[in-house]
Amino acid sequence: MTHRLDRTGLLLALKARLELDADLGVAFIPVSAVRLEKALAESLDDIASLAKRRAVMPRRPVSPPPLDRLKPALKPAAPSPPYRPATLPAARVRLVPLAEPPANPEKEEVLAPLRREASECRGCGLCETRKSVVWGEGDLDARLMFIGEAPGRDEDLEGRPFVGRSGRLLTDIIEKGMKIPRSRVYIANVLKCRPPGDRNPLPDEVAACARYLEKQIETVAPALIIALGMVAGRALLGLPAGTSGLRKRWREYRGVPLRVLYHPSYLLRQRRSAAGPDGRTEADRETWADVLEIMGKLREMTPGENA
Ligand code: URA
Repeated sequence: MTHRLDRTGLLLALKARLELDADLGVAFIPVSAVRLEKALAESLDDIASLAKRRAVMPRRPVSPPPLDRLKPALKPAAPSPPYRPATLPAARVRLVPLAEPPANPEKEEVLAPLRREASECRGCGLCETRKSVVWGEGDLDARLMFIGEAPGRDEDLEGRPFVGRSGRLLTDIIEKGMKIPRSRVYIANVLKCRPPGDRNPLPDEVAACARYLEKQIETVAPALIIALGMVAGRALLGLPAGTSGLRKRWREYRGVPLRVLYHPSYLLRQRRSAAGPDGRTEADRETWADVLEIMGKLREMTPGENA
């Protein structure tokens, strides 16, 4: 179970985790604050049950510090403080429920082995430079599936798709434009690992990663797919590099209607260089027209459901 921690809860959980890890002789290595928070929130139940177990177990003897290897000028290490079983948050922490997508345990089970495989994937050179494997996230029963190109810097650090500046714009398009909570769509990328310097994916990288995305699409079985940018569009449609003009028309991915939208990073770049007095660009207006068409199609395909 995942809990959302406030600041106090985070510190308490961190303290408890470190005490337990020291005691159990394991290392807990935070990679970034965000991932630390996520890891802690996800391990709260573990920490609580370990803490309970430790409270009734005798303490493991602490080996003395290697004094003989310390310079004589250094003082011997202070004796470690007496062991106090870690007390956990339960009563002291305010747990805020996450706005999480509804669970679909059967679909989760279908994807779990592949997701585990992806987390250790060494199918292409990107495994040498990635910090995270960005699997994707969202509602496994989503009617809309958004597919980007590859994780960028923020996504690589956080392990989630579209969380940086272009992610915020994508969230606005989904929530303000389409009026759908982000947690009710599914978001993934053609590549699960960040290409160095955010260069375009290479064909062998796309090929090595394809089976993950194929299974995600097959499992989610969305009513509509939205490819974000030409790179994602070409990869999904199996078109060669350089093919342009993919927007504006409905296409198909294995029988599922697919629409290519401008990539949010392109929209942001355009805003920096070609915005009108209202701060909008021609690309924004075109995207809005695309969004209206997509929502119309979605209503047609799934009448009776709020789109
Ligand atoms: N750009 C993408 O194509 N995908 C992300 O997840 C983030 C930025």
